[in-house]
Amino acid sequence: MTVLVTGGAGFIGSNFILDWLETVGEPVVNLDALTYAGNLQNLASLQSDARHVFVQGDIGDRGLVDRLLAEHRPRAVLHFAAESHVDRSIHGPGEFMRTNVMGSFHLLEAVRSHWAALAPDERSAFRFHHVSTDEVYGSLQPGAPAFAETHPYEPNSPYSASKAASDHLVRAWHHTYGLPVVTTNCSNNYGPYHFPEKLIPLIIVNALAGKALPVYGDGQQVRDWLYVRDHASAIRAVLAGGRVGETYNIGGWNEMANIDIVHTVCALLDELRPDPAGPYRRLVTHVTDRPGHDRRYAIDARKIERELGWRPAETFDSGIRKTVQWYLDHPDWVANVQSGGYRDWLSANYSAR
Ligand code: NAD
Ligand code: TYD
Repeated sequence: MTVLVTGGAGFIGSNFILDWLETVGEPVVNLDALTYAGNLQNLASLQSDARHVFVQGDIGDRGLVDRLLAEHRPRAVLHFAAESHVDRSIHGPGEFMRTNVMGSFHLLEAVRSHWAALAPDERSAFRFHHVSTDEVYGSLQPGAPAFAETHPYEPNSPYSASKAASDHLVRAWHHTYGLPVVTTNCSNNYGPYHFPEKLIPLIIVNALAGKALPVYGDGQQVRDWLYVRDHASAIRAVLAGGRVGETYNIGGWNEMANIDIVHTVCALLDELRPDPAGPYRRLVTHVTDRPGHDRRYAIDARKIERELGWRPAETFDSGIRKTVQWYLDHPDWVANVQSGGYRDWLSANYSAR
């Protein structure tokens, strides 16, 4: 038995693969294009682990995906690959349409044709698990009920619109062709291997470098934060027991304003790596807000708990402490990301193999 993971060199995909091999142990084929967000150093601990097969390639490369499906005959495809950063989607939406919309379309077509040719028992056991985001639901007013799976889709950024489009494609491939799909919509993740363009790792690395900590607008925007390994365990639960054609919202029951996140990270750094120049929060700098910035996301994660018994294992206090400690313990990973050195990892590590 094997599973095919797309985007497994990114933040969540790599954490998922590490978690999967520690818990389930089933071999993984990892298809990743290694864009700027793909970093094989995240998976350096699997260097000599035969259960992890890495393939550099694009989800939109139909010939490649056809060959991988025929060769490895995965029982499931877990689709993480995407352009994922809202600010980049505002500056250049094209790549988001190419990968998140058209890439997902080409992947679905390849998987559909592979699945249609399987024996009946393999067809019914097969799963296409689509990894998506709570951002497809748009922005909540203060005090409004959290996003349930039935909330209307109201995406506001090019990123969330492209993810919403891919969710709709996945839904249609189930309803029209019978492809056995499940979709999960998760809130903001944080944890090890998070690329420091996103809020939490950016604050950690900037603070340690004595640089400004940029807070967009008034910093009162609210997100629900989930430790990345809890996202991995939720995906495992949905893959194993989720009902075909259903969507499951995943969240941490942890709504926080951005400014409070920044202050929490600063306080942890004050404790773990005090700066002689003074408390880190002195570096907080309010900058011009993101255009169209969603004010609040909140996840109602009762369905996955009711049907599958999943709840997050980490509290925000335990998860953020682990995360800050991980960045303090891995200055080489941070330095490689900042220098771009991680992009040489493929040739340094694999060319002689
Ligand atoms: P990421 O940007 O860290 O990683 C994306 C990975 O996909 C990278 O390794 C990249 O090389 C790869 N990739 C990009 N385009 C590709 C293509 N055309 N073909 C093959 N590989 C390609 O993203 P992430 O934060 O790990 O997010 C993973 C998934 O989870 C995404 O689908 C995202 O929408 C979703 N998600 C993210 C969050 C979050 O907080 N980060 C929350 C909910 C859902
Ligand atoms: P981000 O990590 O980019 O995730 P998303 O936009 O997908 O939720 O941002 C999280 C929140 O932090 C979001 O409200 C934007 C805000 N933010 C800042 O205030 N400053 C920053 O430098 C960044 C990157 C984000």
